[in-house]
Amino acid sequence: MTETLQKLLTELEHFGQQNDAAVSERPRKMLNITHDTGEFLSVLIQATNAQRVLEIGTSNGYSTLWLAQAVQRIGGRVTTVELSEFKLEMAAKNFARSGLSEVITQHRGEAGGLLESLDDACFDLLFLDSKRSDYVQWWPSMQRVLRKCGLLVVDNATSHADEMADFMALVSADPDFTTCTVPVGNGEFLATRCG
Ligand SMILES: C[S@@+](CC[C@H](N)C(=O)[O-])C[C@H]1O[C@@H](n2cnc3c(N)ncnc32)[C@H](O)[C@@H]1O
Repeated sequence: MTETLQKLLTELEHFGQQNDAAVSERPRKMLNITHDTGEFLSVLIQATNAQRVLEIGTSNGYSTLWLAQAVQRIGGRVTTVELSEFKLEMAAKNFARSGLSEVITQHRGEAGGLLESLDDACFDLLFLDSKRSDYVQWWPSMQRVLRKCGLLVVDNATSHADEMADFMALVSADPDFTTCTVPVGNGEFLATRCG
């Protein structure tokens, strides 16, 4: 990782913590993943050669930068979707500063609509970090766009266990999927289907 990117990630970590402590309206919070979750995602992407990554929930792009530096190393790219105009603009500025813009596709809009528009099996890894009450509804589309043996990673599996329970139960109940919860950051729920 370049020194420029390391400095930017550190700056965004401080900004996110200070911002989220200071503002009360949820839409104005950054709600970024933790640093160790970024490291975990980076290892997963490189170890599984996940060249086509979809992120749902960009915020100001902190997690996207972790995904982008990982896919850049293996010749891949990341698509990220966000509906908040204010956050889209912040993310675009951060991507420009990072030097990683060329491997990032920013999608403006609602993730459910994007998922429905995507081709079958067009992503190797899906990172889900959005409004948790949408996940059950999106599950059929997410299964469709994830290639065979692709990996789903979902943030907040332990920090918001109650809100994640229905979705995790749904995926875990499918005998075709192998799942686990990893105690990194806010808890990462992983699922894959190779059969
Ligand atoms: C937890 S934050 C994402 C944090 C980001 N992944 C990070 O770690 O830097 C969730 C984001 O999802 C966005 N969001 C919520 N519902 C959405 C939807 N239906 N489509 C697209 N984005 C959505 C919110 O505006 C918010 O910015």
